[in-house]
Amino acid sequence: MPRVLLLFARTSYRAEAFLVAARRLGVDVTVGSNHRQVLADLAPGSTLTVGVSDVERSTATIVRFASDYPLAAIVAAEDDFTPLAAAASEALGLRHHPSDAVRCARNKALMRSRLSAAGFSSPWFHVASLHDDPVRVASRTGFPCVLKPLSLSASRGVIRADAPEEFVRAWHRIRGILEASDVVERSGSLAAEILIEAYLPGREVAVEGIVVGGELLTLALMDKPDSMEGPFFEETILLTPSRFPDKVQDDIVSVVRRCAAHLGLDDGPIHAELRVDADQVSLLEIAPRSIGGRCSAILRFDPDATLEELIVRHALGMPLQGFKREPRASGVMMLPIPMAGILREVAGVDAALQVAAIEGLELTIPLGQTVVPLPEGNRYLGFLFARADSPDQVETALRLAHARLDVKVEPPG
Ligand SMILES: Nc1ncnc2c1ncn2[C@@H]1O[C@H](COP(=O)(O)OP(=O)(O)O)[C@@H](O)[C@H]1O
Ligand SMILES: [Mg+2]
Repeated sequence: MPRVLLLFARTSYRAEAFLVAARRLGVDVTVGSNHRQVLADLAPGSTLTVGVSDVERSTATIVRFASDYPLAAIVAAEDDFTPLAAAASEALGLRHHPSDAVRCARNKALMRSRLSAAGFSSPWFHVASLHDDPVRVASRTGFPCVLKPLSLSASRGVIRADAPEEFVRAWHRIRGILEASDVVERSGSLAAEILIEAYLPGREVAVEGIVVGGELLTLALMDKPDSMEGPFFEETILLTPSRFPDKVQDDIVSVVRRCAAHLGLDDGPIHAELRVDADQVSLLEIAPRSIGGRCSAILRFDPDATLEELIVRHALGMPLQGFKREPRASGVMMLPIPMAGILREVAGVDAALQVAAIEGLELTIPLGQTVVPLPEGNRYLGFLFARADSPDQVETALRLAHARLDVKVEPPG
């Protein structure tokens, strides 16, 4: 049986979904992770310890492992592991986005320069180092703008500023986040870099796809119906199918297809985020991986497959033609974190689950643990899922169910 190496962190939201996918496809699995694993199933070759910071060394570990347990595919379940998956796939001649494309897509500044140099429409942008003087950087910046640390993701540390004073405040806040996190260890010099770019107004949309030998297979367009105007950009609702007019949807897909091709993302999953203002479509980012958190649970494909199955199938070279997102509408709400403190109780769960169209609620931070809102926070509180005939019904159900939840957080101290 072919063997797949699945790479994920101990704290992964996606581990289970990928393991189920591999099991359903009947392949052997090796779980590669950055901590020693204790799994119930300890068949030989079922685990491998690999770190994400030293890609060269971990690639050598994987190549050595593959001489005993030949690998047919390597799949990174999340962002941190994509450089390693790319490098090890290259070393073993396996299907994956090339390392250079992964590096480019993961570095928002490099992505912006490659795309704007090629004539793609792009917001103005420049990069500063946290060691610079923020007052001086602010004086050569246009407003409104968005500050983004290059080393973080999931909207962490992404802050809008409309004036120089706000810029300087945002800067210090980002410095605090970087100093308090382990990001320096994980991303080295990138840790101190901040991308500053024009604020793009408009509605946001995400595109999920798999590039198969250079051809983009679009799996879903997901609208983000909440207006996200900052200063922080908490993700809340995602709805599919998109409610944008067909013509705009075509433009969205066309931008993603051309940007992916230009960056060289040619074999693997992509998750793109864009803003649409009137009919101007602008790319925010395009990541060499699938959607994060537990959001992929809203995507189901006929005949009977999950997103993770399609990704593993692609990595194994199995055909994807014929798979299509189910006809029903679905959506997820990433539960907002009301304030920082200790999570004491989430009341109203039964009432929320009784709302028609609601299919489930998953809390991903245990009671008694600390919750931190954006821009500092780095964990999702939970996910509320809905499915109905139309995206409007899904949206209404998510908002109604959320209103029935009472998230009780005890302030620190
Ligand atoms: N230039 C921009 N204009 C408007 N909003 C932005 C801009 N850049 C980022 N955002 C907002 O911040 C969110 C996070 O930024 P993004 O570039 O996707 O980084 P990441 O998701 O890795 O944190 C986006 O989804 C968007 O809502
Ligand atoms: Mg993003």
